[in-house]
Amino acid sequence: MPEITVNGHRIDAGGDKHVIDVLREQGIDVPALCYHPALSPAGECKLCAVEATYPDKPAQIKLACVLKPAEGLEIRTDTEQVTRARTTAFRNLAKFAPESSVIRGLAEKHGINMGAPPDECIRCRLCVRACKELVGANALKIEKRNTIRYIVPRSGNRCIGCGTCASICPTGAIRQEDSNGLRVIYIRDEIIGQNPLLQCESCGRYFATPKFLSRIEERTEDHPHVKEHHRYCPTCAKLLSDRIKSASRMKKI
Ligand code: SF4
Ligand code: FES
Repeated sequence: MPEITVNGHRIDAGGDKHVIDVLREQGIDVPALCYHPALSPAGECKLCAVEATYPDKPAQIKLACVLKPAEGLEIRTDTEQVTRARTTAFRNLAKFAPESSVIRGLAEKHGINMGAPPDECIRCRLCVRACKELVGANALKIEKRNTIRYIVPRSGNRCIGCGTCASICPTGAIRQEDSNGLRVIYIRDEIIGQNPLLQCESCGRYFATPKFLSRIEERTEDHPHVKEHHRYCPTCAKLLSDRIKSASRMKKI
């Protein structure tokens, strides 16, 4: 019956077991996704990495699901090398299954930092800058959550529903959804802004939010040919303006 050492404790590792079974019997939780005791081990996921030292040999990273106990073998599951090997293994698996909450959840449980989750955002901050510098709403900011930076809405319901962030985003991480007279702008599952839409007085199409139109009126000169505070969509406003212009030309003739 081989005697091995696990994290400094001597253990009888008898029976036809793999090191992962011995560790589990000792209540040591080793991450593993490709191991099943009813099947022969394959060593595919590499998550069960442990540090193994045979007598008079240097420490090596080995897979606990493949490794068999041997007399004098020392196993450590808590070293920097183990964390490094596990981190690499988790990140490699996440390349195959980036949306998998199982992989991220297991990594988190074992204290492995997986970096930013795939949320389509490349942190270019075009949306933040456009909202502040062009629109003047300053509705977005970048915020650190658990060491990871995210684009998030600022508090105070600042979004005016112009959709500039969604149009300027190079990766499509920000979505604008218009339905039933409401415009909602999202990043991930977080709502950036929710604004009612106005209907064009002429064609009846939903076209812009009241906050957006007020912002335009604050920032632009009155249109010389269209009545102030009109609620026409851009197409109808253009048609109306062209009609007024040609009527005034006719008068002069
Ligand atoms: S949401 Fe889009 S525009 Fe904003 S930082 Fe991310 S990728 Fe850039
Ligand atoms: S459990 Fe997958 S490699 Fe060991």
